[in-house]
Amino acid sequence: MPFAHITGWGMAVPERILTNFDLEKIIDTNDQWIVEMTGIKERHIAREGQTTSSLAVEAAWKALSVAKLKPTEIDLIICSTSTPEYLFPATACLVQDRIGATKAGAFDLLAACTGFIYALNMAAQAIKSGSLKNVLVIGAETLSKFVDWTDRNTCILFGDGAGALILQASDVPGGVMSTVMHSDGSGADLLTLPAGGSKNPATEATIRSGLHYIHMDGREVFRFATRVMAHATREVIAASGILMDDVKWIIPHQANLRIIDAAARGLKLPIERFVVNLERYGNTSTASIPIAICEAAQDGRLQKGDKFVLVGFGAGLTWGAMTAQWTGVMEPEHIIRPNYYRLFARTRSLLRRLWLRIEGIIWGRNKA
Ligand SMILES: CC(C)(COP(=O)(O)OP(=O)(O)OC[C@H]1O[C@@H](n2cnc3c(N)ncnc32)[C@H](O)[C@@H]1OP(=O)(O)O)[C@@H](O)C(=O)NCCC(=O)NCCS
Repeated sequence: MPFAHITGWGMAVPERILTNFDLEKIIDTNDQWIVEMTGIKERHIAREGQTTSSLAVEAAWKALSVAKLKPTEIDLIICSTSTPEYLFPATACLVQDRIGATKAGAFDLLAACTGFIYALNMAAQAIKSGSLKNVLVIGAETLSKFVDWTDRNTCILFGDGAGALILQASDVPGGVMSTVMHSDGSGADLLTLPAGGSKNPATEATIRSGLHYIHMDGREVFRFATRVMAHATREVIAASGILMDDVKWIIPHQANLRIIDAAARGLKLPIERFVVNLERYGNTSTASIPIAICEAAQDGRLQKGDKFVLVGFGAGLTWGAMTAQWTGVMEPEHIIRPNYYRLFARTRSLLRRLWLRIEGIIWGRNKA
């Protein structure tokens, strides 16, 4: 059975930073309250025209370049997001076109902030079954577009960003080990974007009532999160047949420092064993774990052979955890030139669009 190795990683966040002090100017809040209650100091906010797919594409190019993998070698793209570009088509398809992943299947996965763990697991299972070799897994969000900037309960929490990993098949032991996934839909209304779907399609009334924004019962979500984080971590470590002492890093969903603190206390681990960067990004939902992985890889905290745990929770309710062993950069079979592939992807996309039009004209005429 092949192993599923993480061989490429990349992240992208908007350049624009919104600090707690900036928020003080638009809503009734203050830096001290936000830092004490969440640990967040600033977050990145997409500018106009910057979208979930544009951040996803930027992160994907970086991941491909680290893995030295051609876009044409990708078998599947999974984009985990709760803020897709459209209800359909899938944001993953937009990424497929933009990077020129000519032979890849592509779909979106929605498990909110736990989504990246779910998506990585789906990719790893496909690789371990022998059916796929190279999978691009992306977590990408532009939550700022769905936040009510007059609601101080939610707008202080969220930020925008994307992270991407390349998973590759190899006979060498390592990579993704075990995963646990859980859900409890009885808590669906605790964190939700109520309108825009088939239950509440967009109407003047839904817009007027603010139903196209994120609604959250912060207290209940907090209670749920502190209950499941330590439990899921223990569960996945047991499923992997390893010990807590074998784990070098815990990489949690970056929602709130107090939630991570509670998990650390529950696991009787020092907070230093956790990768934490939420003070600079806020909660970027499904992008938070891959962004944290990228930073830990870039600054050398993650070293070849290190075992680590990913653990997250979110709307749904969903929660889950994964154990994996860090592979680092593999020896490439060939050198790729990212700029060449960017140009190829752009040209291919333009020609494909043109060809679809021409085909439409030809077939349309024949029909008439
Ligand atoms: C959002 C959160 C920080 C709020 O903390 P809390 O202890 O639940 O706070 P409450 O909403 O009960 O409000 C406590 C007080 O702070 C005030 N307050 C709320 N938001 C505030 C803000 N942004 N600035 C200043 N004061 C604020 C409230 O009005 C309330 O004041 P009162 O006691 O005078 O009525 C916390 O609930 C949380 O982090 N929940 C988890 C959310 C999460 O992680 N969501 C994403 C999941 S993926």
